[in-house]
Amino acid sequence: MRLPGLGGWSEDPLWSYVYPRLVDSGPVGRAAWRAVMGSDLTLLHEAAAEIGTLPRGSRVLDVPTGSGVALRGVRPGQGLDVVAVDISTTMLQRAAATAARLGVADQVTTAVADVGNLPFDDGSFDLVVSFTGLHCFPDPHRAIREMVRVLAPGGAITGSSLFTDTGLRYRPLRRAGTRIGVLGPMCTSEEARAWLREAGCAEVELSLHGALGYFRAVRAEQS
Ligand SMILES: C[S@@+](CC[C@H](N)C(=O)[O-])C[C@H]1O[C@@H](n2cnc3c(N)ncnc32)[C@H](O)[C@@H]1O
Repeated sequence: MRLPGLGGWSEDPLWSYVYPRLVDSGPVGRAAWRAVMGSDLTLLHEAAAEIGTLPRGSRVLDVPTGSGVALRGVRPGQGLDVVAVDISTTMLQRAAATAARLGVADQVTTAVADVGNLPFDDGSFDLVVSFTGLHCFPDPHRAIREMVRVLAPGGAITGSSLFTDTGLRYRPLRRAGTRIGVLGPMCTSEEARAWLREAGCAEVELSLHGALGYFRAVRAEQS
């Protein structure tokens, strides 16, 4: 078996083993998240809970799904069509295992794809969720354009990301992530707001919590 090393996500880096344990390990994970990110992991779980409010038949895109952290928002028997997308096949295997563990595997399909070139038609999802992903993507502007393109008018995009305007305290964290290859160029929260509007979102909310920002925007009916 190949030992996990440092490198990009498609190379299955060491961080891809550490990260899922951090976000899924209850009080220990929450404490570590607060210490490193200065933010509350509950915010991620609360944002993911929006999935559970959708009516039967809704289509949800989770990109990047990673180990399927957002899938905890899906309720067994809810009747959703959730597509979990990631560039890493290893992460997708973990997401599929998470879906099975949560009893929602019948509502989840996985697909390998690059967020910058999503293999889906315009307007084909009711909700796009993108947690702790934007900062990993090689072109966050293009990623936002693609994620909003596949969103139906009136649909919402919700997610979180590290932003570069969250203060000097988090600069070492961002630098370390960039060095080991798990973080991309990132962007400021203002850029993300502007790109969401430019892509066709009308209502854009973004609030910073420590190193992270949480955003939610609704695609305009006419764009
Ligand atoms: C920090 S994880 C976050 C995953 C998950 N949303 C979560 O909250 O746990 C980042 C994920 O982004 C994926 N990724 C990186 N670049 C990508 C790209 N260009 N397209 C799709 N996924 C990508 C990685 O494989 C990794 O699973």
